[in-house]
Amino acid sequence: MQRSGQTSRFEGWVAVCDSIYVAGWAAAGSQGAPVRIKLNGREIAEVKPTVERPDVAATGRPALSGFVHVFEKPLAETDDLEVVFSDGTELDWACRRFACGKVATFPQPPTEFMGKVGDADPNKFHMVGAHVFRMIRDKAGARPTDRILDIGSGCGRVAVYLSNYLNGLGRYDGFDIDLAMVEWCKENITARDQKFQFHHAKLTNTYYTEAGADAATYKFPFSDSTFDMVFAASVFTHLVPNSAQQYANEIARVLKPGGRALLSFYVKNDEFRRERAQGQKHSLDFQYDHGDYSIVDEKHPELAIAFEEALLRSIFDKARLKIDTLSYGAWRKPGGWSFQDWVLVSKS
Ligand SMILES: C[S@@+](CC[C@H](N)C(=O)[O-])C[C@H]1O[C@@H](n2cnc3c(N)ncnc32)[C@H](O)[C@@H]1O
Repeated sequence: MQRSGQTSRFEGWVAVCDSIYVAGWAAAGSQGAPVRIKLNGREIAEVKPTVERPDVAATGRPALSGFVHVFEKPLAETDDLEVVFSDGTELDWACRRFACGKVATFPQPPTEFMGKVGDADPNKFHMVGAHVFRMIRDKAGARPTDRILDIGSGCGRVAVYLSNYLNGLGRYDGFDIDLAMVEWCKENITARDQKFQFHHAKLTNTYYTEAGADAATYKFPFSDSTFDMVFAASVFTHLVPNSAQQYANEIARVLKPGGRALLSFYVKNDEFRRERAQGQKHSLDFQYDHGDYSIVDEKHPELAIAFEEALLRSIFDKARLKIDTLSYGAWRKPGGWSFQDWVLVSKS
């Protein structure tokens, strides 16, 4: 196999590779170059450079030469991965070819924390993190230079995927009501990457924690117009309507004009009821009906909550955020961007 930097016009390195993603830089002359990712001899993706690499630019090569590819599912130790330029030349590797089982640069959170935010199985934990990262990048158009807010950041399931994507100009803030997970993120993520800051919000939630103030009056600890993009993965699904309204208002306040927010919900509407009447099964029942919202457990309303679509729309109307896309999720029927329903909103 011909190597880059010998007779090829291409140059580049694979800088990071683990079972979850592969990243590096690739250039041909003054331009970033696409690369092909081959798994066990079969091409699985062609990846264009979308990441600014000031460190590469400092050596006289093009800045827009960084690439990242997140695998559909975590690779196994026996898998064979190659990264090649369009002429078949293989990129050099500046890292171990594989460090399976966890995101390379960050330790895996304790099982208890992974269980708190979803499935405690490490593979499923990482698959969700990678999937949400891809939506942030591909559906919401997050750029490597963006200032990003993660509401309900948990134990950094999504943050670690942004770590290799955000460049020196980008920055991430996350906040959560769970002090232990916030502390873990500070010790294990911030300590390795200062661009990532985590904050504790001492708030109550009828499912997660009893001690604290009412989320319906919470002011996010950031100035107006701070963020290019905000996301909340599986957090509004744990907020009663008053808190959801306050959070939408706060998102509108802290977003820059033109900023976007990607937020997941469970949404019920007439179509949902028609499907139900026709005998279609949904993954969640939301059997306790409270008018404009429904829940699965009367004792813990915030265990899982579904909003009527009319309520959802009025929340964003009141917050002066425009709904650009509402993607109904696979919890209702196959299709959509993900399991939950996702809303992409923007601030004018
Ligand atoms: C299902 S987990 C998702 C965590 C994270 N977004 C992820 O995808 O890995 C829900 C998270 O929301 C947090 N949470 C619950 N109520 C909250 C609130 N009012 N404000 C911020 N975070 C909250 C919980 O502590 C928990 O970490």
